[in-house]
Amino acid sequence: MFDLSNRTAIVTGAARGIGRAIAAALVERGARVALLDREPTLLAEATAQLGPATLSVVADVADAAAVKAAIDAVSARWGRIDVLVNNAAVISSAPFLELHPAEWERTLAVNLTAIYHTCRAVVPMMIANGYGRLITIASVAGKRGGGILGSAAYSAAKAGAIGLTKALARELAPYGITANAICPGPVETPLLATMTPAQRARAQALIPLGRFAQPMEVAAAVVFLVSPEAAFITGETLDVDGGITMD
Ligand SMILES: NC(=O)c1ccc[n+]([C@@H]2O[C@H](COP(=O)([O-])OP(=O)(O)OC[C@H]3O[C@@H](n4cnc5c(N)ncnc54)[C@H](O)[C@@H]3O)[C@@H](O)[C@H]2O)c1
Repeated sequence: MFDLSNRTAIVTGAARGIGRAIAAALVERGARVALLDREPTLLAEATAQLGPATLSVVADVADAAAVKAAIDAVSARWGRIDVLVNNAAVISSAPFLELHPAEWERTLAVNLTAIYHTCRAVVPMMIANGYGRLITIASVAGKRGGGILGSAAYSAAKAGAIGLTKALARELAPYGITANAICPGPVETPLLATMTPAQRARAQALIPLGRFAQPMEVAAAVVFLVSPEAAFITGETLDVDGGITMD
């Protein structure tokens, strides 16, 4: 089950946190994985940890030309790209009334428009191969309008990412490509570093399972959704949130 040998994947924002855990889980199932991130030092550490089935690619996902060049380099090296995991994101916690236009623009650029850039670069290759698996790491914020850590810009970008994933699922199904989103609740990663103990306690009280997730628990959902066993699942939004959402 969940055999990914002979598959190639790109994971954005893979230098640390959930992205690194996703890359590790895909490697463990036999895939070759390109880790794309804007942080070269962390990225080198991640690929050294994960071994020879990985490749590191430095790029800012908000830079369309850099993304295209990075993805073309991976494709030239491996000949095909089967899986794209759009995971890179930045947090934005400013209340709406204090939200600066620059923070709005940057959050939307990294958390939403970047998915358009990566998919534009990857999807034509997937169509040519008649096979593809697109995964979007969204957030409960995209369904709830924030209320835990991310606020207006973050929630809007994540809601947009869910909508984009569904549109991709609908339009690309005839080409053998599935597209699914995952909505994590709070996950123990550096993204949560700014949370105060009071904020953490409030967040924990919202979670029926009573704790934050570990990155590998999100990675396990990715492995399932890109595996042969999930071939008939597309346009789905899978909550990995300890029961926060239950919709
Ligand atoms: N941690 C959580 O509680 C949580 C909850 C819900 C959703 N998520 C989502 O999970 C995903 C991963 O989050 P995380 O907690 O691992 O975050 P993180 O901050 O620990 O890691 C994010 C990674 O993305 C990279 N990155 C950020 N901006 C980039 C850019 N412009 N170009 C390239 N790389 C960039 C960072 O360098 C970093 O390696 C994000 O989409 C996040 O919104 C996280």
